Amino acid sequence: MADDSSTPTPRFRMAIIGGGIAALSLAVTLGRYADGSSPIQIDMYEAGPEITTVGAGISVWPRTWVIMRELGLYEELASEAVKANDSSGGEHLKPAFFYRKSDWPQEGFEYARVMMPNGGTTMHRAEMVGVLLRHLPTNCSIHTSKKLLGYEEVSEDGRTTYMLHFADGTTAVADVVIGADGIKSKTRASMYDLAHKVDCSDPEATKREECRQCRHATPKWTGIVTYRYLIPSDRLREINPTHRALDTPALLSYSGKHKFVEQILLQHIVTYPISHGKFVNFVGFVTQEGAEGATYPHKWVINATREEVVSHYSGWEPEVEQMLRCVENPTVWAIHVLDSLPFSVRGQVALMGDAVHAMTPHIGSGGGQAIEDAFILGRFLADPRTTLARVEVVLRIYQDIRLQFGLGVVQRSDKVGRMCEFDYPGLYDGAPVPASCKEDELDLTKERLGELGRAIEDVWSWQVKEHVEDQWDEAKSRYEALFSEKQRDTSAVGKAKNYWSRVCPIM
Ligand SMILES: Cc1cc2nc3c(=O)[nH]c(=O)nc-3n(C[C@H](O)[C@H](O)[C@H](O)COP(=O)(O)OP(=O)(O)OC[C@H]3O[C@@H](n4cnc5c(N)ncnc54)[C@H](O)[C@@H]3O)c2cc1C
Ligand SMILES: *[C@@H]1O[C@H](CO)[C@@H](O)[C@H](O)[C@H]1NC(C)=O
Ligand SMILES: *[C@@H]1O[C@H](CO)[C@@H](O)[C@H](O)[C@H]1NC(C)=O
Ligand SMILES: *[C@@H]1O[C@H](CO)[C@@H](O)[C@H](O)[C@H]1NC(C)=O
Repeated sequence: MADDSSTPTPRFRMAIIGGGIAALSLAVTLGRYADGSSPIQIDMYEAGPEITTVGAGISVWPRTWVIMRELGLYEELASEAVKANDSSGGEHLKPAFFYRKSDWPQEGFEYARVMMPNGGTTMHRAEMVGVLLRHLPTNCSIHTSKKLLGYEEVSEDGRTTYMLHFADGTTAVADVVIGADGIKSKTRASMYDLAHKVDCSDPEATKREECRQCRHATPKWTGIVTYRYLIPSDRLREINPTHRALDTPALLSYSGKHKFVEQILLQHIVTYPISHGKFVNFVGFVTQEGAEGATYPHKWVINATREEVVSHYSGWEPEVEQMLRCVENPTVWAIHVLDSLPFSVRGQVALMGDAVHAMTPHIGSGGGQAIEDAFILGRFLADPRTTLARVEVVLRIYQDIRLQFGLGVVQRSDKVGRMCEFDYPGLYDGAPVPASCKEDELDLTKERLGELGRAIEDVWSWQVKEHVEDQWDEAKSRYEALFSEKQRDTSAVGKAKNYWSRVCPIM
């Protein structure tokens, strides 16, 4: 490339691996906070032939909207969201997520109603990706059909740089590498291979997969699969013009439980409108009790049959039965998670998004957490004071602020999933109600369901009670401490080191 003397030399060369929500949000944040005097060279490497997205619906919650406002994308993204029929503005609490008991042929029973300042906001993933793409900084070069196989640490004039190897046989060099390559991250695989080989002292563990620490870098099957398809709203309206899934500008969970002789299947269905109400996004969950941690026997995403979907929810309330009449081209997705990754940073390489904290979809927060990672990482790296020499310590502050928090969200999501499938110890357990049961027995069930509902609402409350701004303030003060003369060695750097040894005894 020709050297343009009017542009300053880049502070460092950064490679972003992946082109999903995490990667795009990072690039947008870098563009938003970049300082013209000190640009960074950004190269984004995406495995697929184009920047696109798999899956249909995505829900967006209050913490994410706060970041979107900071990034100047609020209005544009909000115009993609399915709106509540309400013009009273954003600050009132509105219903966001309804939970119903639906595993009986009579009308379901609503047992929880999660309220949020914006209600539940939902959209098509492609619409979110479109908004992010339109705001990419021009000096972020996108390279498609570049599937990373792995990276190597290379010593160059006493500094560490990274050699990236791609599936097409090509290589690239970078000073800083950000792995935003999703749950099957090759960046993470390389990072843990290196860490295991170089730093692990666990004598019993020879293979990385068997190492006490490093095995957590391998995704775990949750025992859950989800059946996904889109229902054209007009079709469902013909069947039932007042179907809740059509008119509720919020998410709905139809919950239940099936006990077979040999196996217990826990089930629920989540629906919400997307694409300005043109479609209802259907996600049917089936949890095989006892299968958590087992190896999933199929490919992670495959086509399913209509019969398979119907078999799981037959005999449920009429609204469910009506949606099952609209099954078309269903797919089945195995849900894997990363719930205890010991570290997300090594040298000048950091992981973000699903590469760090892939989670169940029960509180629709995987994308939001990816965006929170991007916001802090992006602001840190955009700051001209983050010189190459400081990248390592800055990344450790990012890890310190974000890793445990993200993993905490993985736990919260898991908890809500168990609760809404009537499988959480001490709460309503889904004991079947006989059709002929007496009124007072039903009252007892409803009382137990009310208790369950309050527990679910309580888990959700972090979205409004824990402020993303506070997390940024903490990150910022840790960052600023790097430059305050008195504290230079003892504060941020010291803390990062302590954290390091506390969390990961192998490093
Ligand atoms: C059923 C379901 C429902 C969900 N619902 C919600 C929701 O309502 N709200 C929400 O916030 N989240 C939701 N999520 C979670 C959300 O989809 C993820 O958390 C989010 O997509 C993570 O973004 P990411 O960029 O980290 O990873 P990904 O979206 O997986 O993107 C990774 C990118 O990297 C690329 N890539 C992968 N490997 C390589 C490689 N080796 N080299 C180069 N590129 C590579 C991929 O092609 C992809 O483009 C849901 C997930 C599921 C499964
Ligand atoms: C992109 O380049 C322009 C012009 O040199 C610069 O102002 C901007 O800061 C750069 N962006 C990033 C993210 O480095
Ligand atoms: C939306 O609100 C308007 C005015 O309050 C009302 O006339 C209309 O019926 C509402 N639509 C729906 C789908 O609830
Ligand atoms: C899955 O279904 C889609 C459309 O329904 C079809 O185009 C595709 O070929 C199917 N894939 C497989 C592997 O059967």
